[in-house]
This record gives sequence, C-alpha cells and structure tokens, in this order.
Amino acid sequence: LRLVVLVSGTGSNLQALLDACAEPAYATEVVAVGADRDGILALERAEQAQIPTFVLKVEDFDAREAWDSALMEQTAAYAPDLVVSAGFMKLVGASFLARFAGRFLNTHPALLPSFPGMHGARDALEYGVKVTGATLFVVDEGVDTGAIVAQAVVPVEDDDTEETLHERIKVAERRMLVDSIGRIAREGFHLDGRRVRFGAARP
Ligand code: GRF
Repeated sequence: LRLVVLVSGTGSNLQALLDACAEPAYATEVVAVGADRDGILALERAEQAQIPTFVLKVEDFDAREAWDSALMEQTAAYAPDLVVSAGFMKLVGASFLARFAGRFLNTHPALLPSFPGMHGARDALEYGVKVTGATLFVVDEGVDTGAIVAQAVVPVEDDDTEETLHERIKVAERRMLVDSIGRIAREGFHLDGRRVRFGAARP
C-alpha cells in the first residue's frame, strides 16, 4: 500500500506509521510526506527516514483553489493508494477531494460526531464528557463529517488539562491509525452507505 501522509505539526502519528512500515509484514510504504508549513518536527522525521517531502504554503498562492490544485498534483505525483492527513491543519478543496475521493483519511482527536473542528480535546474537556477518544474517517466535503473507519475510546480524568488529555488521546490515536492502515493494506475497505467495511466490495 502506497501512502502519502500530510502533516502540520509534531508528526507523532507519522512516526508511528514510519515505525510500522519498517516491518515488511505491514506491507505499507510512506512514499512522500506533504506539509503546509516548514520548520516542523514532522518534516524532520520524514527526512530522517529518507522519505521525500514537499511543502505548499497557502500564502504562496494567489487563491486557495490554486493551492489546492498544487497539493493535489504534488500528492498525485507519488501515485498513492491512500492519503492520510495526520495532524494536517488545513481543509482541502474540491480538486483534491475529487482526485482522492474515498481514499483520503483523517484522524481527529475526539469521538465524532462529537467535538468536530480544531479543538477536539479541549471541547470535550470543557463539555465535561467522561470518555472521549480518536476517530479515523474518510474525508468528505464537510468538516469531520465523513464515514468512520475506526474509533478508540479514552477516559477523561478528573485532573486532566487539555494537554494531558490530548496526549492520552494521541497514544490511542496512533495505535488506531497503525492498526487500521495495516488492516486496509491486508484487506482493503469499501463503503456501504456511511458504514465502512473492511474487505473487497461484494457485488
Ligand atoms: C493529532 O491529535 C491530530 O488528530 C490532531 O493533531 C494531532 C497531531 O499530532 N489534529 P502529530 O502531529 O501527529 O503529533
């Protein structure tokens, strides 16, 4: 399975994938890492692993659509089977979505459909839920609305801060991501309405 991973931050999810890919039985290769900014730890991790990288900053383009097409083309150049947004802090546009429809996955640090958006961990903490978690989903036109591939549950502790809760979520998120991508590499997946099923679609 050829993976392109999109990142904006520390890249701990990327690192978990890179570590898993070192195992031949995982049958997956990160063929490129794309980012929307430079100077981030995620890009250092990619370079350390000798994975090609590309950086496309929205501010370097006249229009958001031009950035989106460039992102689509750079990503497509690596002929990925799957694109994973792992802490990529941008919403992609129509051309990217059209090109990678059904093959673009995102991780979110909450149990969707609860707490979508930029601050999944903080919003769950402020709401006062006692369990939260992480969700891997197929990106669609909405914000964190796509079909759910996997979820992992994490308890909220009484003395949690946003940081301690997010760190606990990220541990579960990494495991969920690595397990799910491994399963997709072995079995594939398809959509049945909103339900994601592993394995090939039956006629
Ligand atoms: C993850 O929790 C992701 O879901 C969220 O930001 C975090 C990224 O972490 N949007 P990293 O860059 O993979 O370390």
